[in-house]
Amino acid sequence: MTRTIARIALAAAGLALLPGFAQAQKNAPNNDITAQAEQVFRSSFRADNPKYWMTRLDQDEAMRLCSQYRDNPPAKLRAQIEKAQMATIRYPVEGKLIGDWKEGEKLAAVGTGGHIGFIQPDPPGRLRGGNCYACHQLAKKEVAYGTIGPSLHHFGKLRGTSDEIVKYTYDKIYNSNAFTACTNMPRFGLHSWLTPEQITHIVAFLVDPESPVNKD
Ligand code: HEC
Repeated sequence: MTRTIARIALAAAGLALLPGFAQAQKNAPNNDITAQAEQVFRSSFRADNPKYWMTRLDQDEAMRLCSQYRDNPPAKLRAQIEKAQMATIRYPVEGKLIGDWKEGEKLAAVGTGGHIGFIQPDPPGRLRGGNCYACHQLAKKEVAYGTIGPSLHHFGKLRGTSDEIVKYTYDKIYNSNAFTACTNMPRFGLHSWLTPEQITHIVAFLVDPESPVNKD
């Protein structure tokens, strides 16, 4: 029992020693816990590339509204957010929305690049990817996947390859909030995380009948 208390005390002392925490405690008004939390959060981000990291802390309109309504805005507002997000979508110059599934397979699996702790631009040779397996099942052979998002195994087999489906898949990856106002899925195209061409490769990985996503 005493040992547990000692451990908690030690942990609390450790937290207070963090420079950001101490700073935030000193600056924030005591009665405003939200402002304190915001300050601790901000001070935990690295400041050596303010243009990249610090701007990621500023919410855009969609994020602000989703926070305000705890991801459940009234229907009218939801439609408004989705419409505004839809208007951000850009397409590859040649207009072709299906690329090469083999390229897409690589991009979907890569989970490195641009993580907190790396300074932009990414080191040469580091491939940025969609890290899709963090949230989705895709090809059957990859057994380590997250379940925050629905399984996309057999996505093309079930939905087909009509122009409509291909465009939906492209748009969803480019800016998922265009369909689900307050989704957990990142806006890969909007934030230039994936280029339009890279997105076309991932679209192919999802819909091409030859892709492992659509095999057993
Ligand atoms: C942080 C988690 C997360 C990541 C990473 C993520 N997604 Fe999602 N995705 C979701 C969630 C949650 C949904 C369901 C809610 C929604 O539709 O937004 C979803 C929905 C989808 C859908 C719509 C499925 C349908 O039934 O119509 C597609 C397609 C999709 N994701 C593709 C991808 C691809 C491709 C990647 C990688 C480039 C990816 N996602 C990365 C969380 C994620």
